[in-house]
Amino acid sequence: MEPLILSHELSKNYNGKVCALDRVSLEICPGEWVAVMGASGSGKSTLLNMIAALDLPTSGALWVDGVDIVTYTEEERVRFRREKVGLIFQHFYLIPYLTAVENVMLAQYFHSMPDKGEAEEALRRVGLGERLDSLPSELSGGEQQRVCIARAFINQPKIVLADEPTGNLDATNEETIMKIFHHLHRAGHTLLVVTHDPHIGQQADRIIELDHGRVVPVVSSQRSFLKNTNFTLSIPIKEKHPT
Ligand SMILES: Nc1ncnc2c1ncn2[C@@H]1O[C@H](COP(=O)(O)OP(=O)(O)O)[C@@H](O)[C@H]1O
Ligand SMILES: [Mg+2]
Repeated sequence: MEPLILSHELSKNYNGKVCALDRVSLEICPGEWVAVMGASGSGKSTLLNMIAALDLPTSGALWVDGVDIVTYTEEERVRFRREKVGLIFQHFYLIPYLTAVENVMLAQYFHSMPDKGEAEEALRRVGLGERLDSLPSELSGGEQQRVCIARAFINQPKIVLADEPTGNLDATNEETIMKIFHHLHRAGHTLLVVTHDPHIGQQADRIIELDHGRVVPVVSSQRSFLKNTNFTLSIPIKEKHPT
């Protein structure tokens, strides 16, 4: 199967020194749910921003859906995000003077056509049926997070990119969101979810761990052994990467 996301030696340096991503090569298949884990500062958000075409690498290549997105013009990058990607950011980026339902409808407008009923339904699904007309400033961090999640799902994007999507949520709301992720996964969407939480990570098909901008390699012999024994491995066994 052709990978939906394919990077080759993707690197990002800041100010010529900080190496946020260091020659990251990875393949993500259509329909896969991949968790991205790693310590703070290991490059998780940088990787997500590259795949969302929000930022450009210093070197390396990145194909998404068969296209080298590094070569996109600014206009093409905007269109790519609107048409193919649902983004859940750590900082919610809600429009402060629009209500919850208007924030979701704005995403519909940019994609195709606003539909208030659908936007309201999306907010009900994340448990915000009572807060449709609230402004972001009237919502708690967890509620704003859920508006952001409803906005990301509203256009049924091929790829969902989520940066700590449950970071601000209590256990009940976390479960609501994880159910939506499972539903999207079953429907064939590709999910890339950054998380610190092993419980969230384990629900993915696979975990990619980053350490100082590098992908921590999985020991292949152990992996194939576990595959042969039909054992479901939730967290890959890894070897320390060479320093
Ligand atoms: N705009 C920036 N300018 C300079 N350094 C940055 C910038 N963004 C991220 N970094 C650095 O790149 C590294 C990776 O950051 P990030 O991808 O945000 O990590 P994570 O999401 O895993 O916590 C960190 O050392 C961070 O300080
Ligand atoms: Mg981050």
